[in-house]
Amino acid sequence: MTRHLITSAIPYINGIKHLGNLVGSQLPADLYARYLRARGHEVLFLCATDEHGTPAELAATKAGKPIEEYCAEMHAIQAEIAAGFGLSFDHFGRSSSLQNRALTQYFAGALADQGLIEEVVEQQVYSNADGRFLPDRYIEGTCPNCGFESARGDQCDNCTKQLDPVDLIDAHSTISGSTDLEMRETKHLFLRQSQLKDRLDDWISEKADWPVLTTSIARKWLHDGDGLRDRGITRDLDWGVPVKRGADDWPGMEGKVFYVWFDAPIEYIACAQEWVDAGKGDDWVRWWRTDQGADDVRYTQFMGKDNVPFHTLSFPATIMGSNEPWKLVDYIKSFNYLTYDGGQFSTSRGRGVFMDQALEILPADYWRWWLLSHAPETSDAEFTWENFQTSVNKDLADVLGNFISRITKFCRSKFGEAVPSAGEYGPAEHALIADLATRVAQYQIHMDAMEVRKSAQELRAIWSAGNEYLQAEAPWTTFKTDPEKAAVQVRLALNLIPLYAVLSAPFIPTAAASMLSAMHVETPDWPDDVPAALEGLAAGHIFEVPEVLFAKISDEDREIWAERFAGTRD
Ligand code: 2FM
Ligand code: ZN
Repeated sequence: MTRHLITSAIPYINGIKHLGNLVGSQLPADLYARYLRARGHEVLFLCATDEHGTPAELAATKAGKPIEEYCAEMHAIQAEIAAGFGLSFDHFGRSSSLQNRALTQYFAGALADQGLIEEVVEQQVYSNADGRFLPDRYIEGTCPNCGFESARGDQCDNCTKQLDPVDLIDAHSTISGSTDLEMRETKHLFLRQSQLKDRLDDWISEKADWPVLTTSIARKWLHDGDGLRDRGITRDLDWGVPVKRGADDWPGMEGKVFYVWFDAPIEYIACAQEWVDAGKGDDWVRWWRTDQGADDVRYTQFMGKDNVPFHTLSFPATIMGSNEPWKLVDYIKSFNYLTYDGGQFSTSRGRGVFMDQALEILPADYWRWWLLSHAPETSDAEFTWENFQTSVNKDLADVLGNFISRITKFCRSKFGEAVPSAGEYGPAEHALIADLATRVAQYQIHMDAMEVRKSAQELRAIWSAGNEYLQAEAPWTTFKTDPEKAAVQVRLALNLIPLYAVLSAPFIPTAAASMLSAMHVETPDWPDDVPAALEGLAAGHIFEVPEVLFAKISDEDREIWAERFAGTRD
């Protein structure tokens, strides 16, 4: 048994997330957490809302609400929707927590003690029309690196380059649209991450097993020369973690806050404290301090590719620079983008399907299955309603759902709602069991490696193997001439249901729970020994025919939804 710390990139508080956000971090993290728990490991799975910075301020202003109130409301909404999707966080925290405030200030103090913080008087963009500085998302313009026209002041969404507002070409204020901008002096704290370049370089070089997507982005910005330049970690904003040096005031920095990307990853640690303070755990230090047990922890982070520079360079720079024994990430699983019907999902433009809307239409498992089986791992992936309909109808309804309904109904009609007593397995049964044992081993290999699509393919093949066995052996035909042989076939097929439930639960937890409850079994152990697992239901074991597990999506539904989501959300 290993202890696994798993974090998903923490979603911005600025509204309900779309399916592209979900598949890029929270959902695959949940898949992995559920799988590892099922394998008997100790797991701490954390996520939170990212509540500071300009995204939060802009959204609260738009909603016409005080920011604290907006964040509290949106946190509750995001938590509820996450639960609706079956995201099994051990804690869903808030980066605006007191724990994160104190820890962020603590890290700033530790970095200053190590000589890694510099006070810099610099010129920043000031908007005359708005009467304020324009950090981060308060300013947009053309990316000097790739020419993308809507690059934000802190990062280009197109090429992932971290930017400064002063870098943007033809910039304008996102508050007023004004281009009446000037440079004004202001003092900020800079993290001297360039000092850590060699350590970061050595650390990344050791990560030969990381996804190419992760290491290629990290290397690009490490060796770009500019990627690791010292950066401001404070901002002229009202909302955020007030700048302090540990518990002490920081002279000259009154009224300023830390940059959201400085405090957000620290929330991964603070969230574990929140988990303890909420009475859900009794020790967070053993997960996070390598001098107090966390060297045994395997820490995996999940995120979209735009988050990679912050997790491979900036946050590790904070951890390493503190010179204290905090846990560094062991593996970063990153994702490309999911596109929507030929274009981008977009929170700001309301384009695509959002998590709340998805749950209004269909239960979470339908979405979980499609999203995970099409995860944008090696390239971007596209959501289309046709593709969604095909996957749901074929994989979930025709293969898995049909298998379960057919065998339980057939058993009920000929033997009653109990596993029939039956004789020895024949060659077809032994062949199926051997095939499943091989496939389960392969499924584990893919799940251990977090190969999401390959895992889904193998799981689908495991379901198909049962379906094909039923099709070929046809107990309904066998029964006419050899009821005893039919009983053998039925017994094995019924035993596949709990096996399928355990293997499928990380992908489709609700359906898996219904399968187990219909079969009147508690969650069985992981099938380390497939032949033994298939002996689980003995003769006489009572079951029920489950309700329809997955309804098919009709052409009419598909057309209605495609039409409903063709524009942008209100
Ligand atoms: O891109 C985003 O949605 C950010 N809110 C992710 C932050 S992850 C972290 F570092 F906390
Ligand atoms: Zn760019």
